[in-house]
Amino acid sequence: MHTFTFVTPGKVVCGAGAATDGRLAQEAALLGAKPLLVCGKSLQASGMLEKILATLPGAKVHLGVPPEPSLTDCADAQQAALGCDSIVAIGGGSVLDVAKAAALPGSIYDYFDGKLTVPDERGQALPILAAPTTAGTGSEATWVGVFTDKRGASPKKASIRGGAMLPKTVVLDAALSVSCPPHVTAYSGMDAFVQAVEAYVSRGANPFTDPLALQAAFDIAEWLPSAFRDGESLEARERMLIASYQAGMALNTARLGLVHGIAHPVGARTGAAHGLLCALLLPAVIRFNTGADLDRYSDLAIGIGAPREDLAALAETWLDDFSIPRKLSDLGLQRADLDAVIAETLVSGSTKANPRTVHESDVREVLEACW
Ligand SMILES: [Fe+2]
Repeated sequence: MHTFTFVTPGKVVCGAGAATDGRLAQEAALLGAKPLLVCGKSLQASGMLEKILATLPGAKVHLGVPPEPSLTDCADAQQAALGCDSIVAIGGGSVLDVAKAAALPGSIYDYFDGKLTVPDERGQALPILAAPTTAGTGSEATWVGVFTDKRGASPKKASIRGGAMLPKTVVLDAALSVSCPPHVTAYSGMDAFVQAVEAYVSRGANPFTDPLALQAAFDIAEWLPSAFRDGESLEARERMLIASYQAGMALNTARLGLVHGIAHPVGARTGAAHGLLCALLLPAVIRFNTGADLDRYSDLAIGIGAPREDLAALAETWLDDFSIPRKLSDLGLQRADLDAVIAETLVSGSTKANPRTVHESDVREVLEACW
């Protein structure tokens, strides 16, 4: 068996209402007395921000993290964190990632230019409490942040990782996600599903990540349709939050695969939602991988109850069910960009964890299948 590392946040508090009834504030107080609350504008629009702040009177607020955040967004959040002793992050994957950057000492640009390394768990970073409002990226369970570096000729998605970026405490409150609109619920949920699948078939999968990834995939298959149709269902929302958190725990050390290897360079060029891209690419990548890792895909397909044990066919039906486009060309990707997308895919850490070795012609084949 290969050697591996497995790491998760230290504490999870799960329960509807936890963000507003004082439980989140109680956990935040264990991390610091002057937290920076990082969130998106949707938290304010839903009325939840006001209720949360009523329990966190000492908090400074950094509001308005955009989707697919840039290094400038990270630098702004770092500036806002000056004078704070902890971070409370409440939002979707972009908010949680920016909050991880806000916790770091030193310039965010230096991490991306190789001049600084993310500190380990003993480092000088601020402690983080994370509460997701979407069931998707699983960022609350990981020590990774994915950002768009817009400084070059073409924007590039890049990630940094390290022990100091792992949240100390996670709050899973289904009431935070009931206002998430159906299309965001679908895209986020499919990101979580793809992450569970890729973590399970990954070269980095291990005995700790396998049960988490499998359970996450099974629960998302069961509960995402309910959360999509009936967003007010606290049961469906909670099951999705738990499943996406499990998928995050799995992928943090098992890593991902070719879907994510392609989705990042395509997302940087098109601005398309990450989960949408993951869902669109999944059937073609399963078909590419199936020859090399049939048993693991069968575990997933049989557990979910896929027709003919065909996970790719099931994933395709979901594209229609959730109104997800089937073609990359519909998202504004240009043929002229394909060579650069392929080059970036081949050097991605996700692609390196893919169960089947990926060559240039393989990426081109997958892209053509989705064109
Ligand atoms: Fe993802």
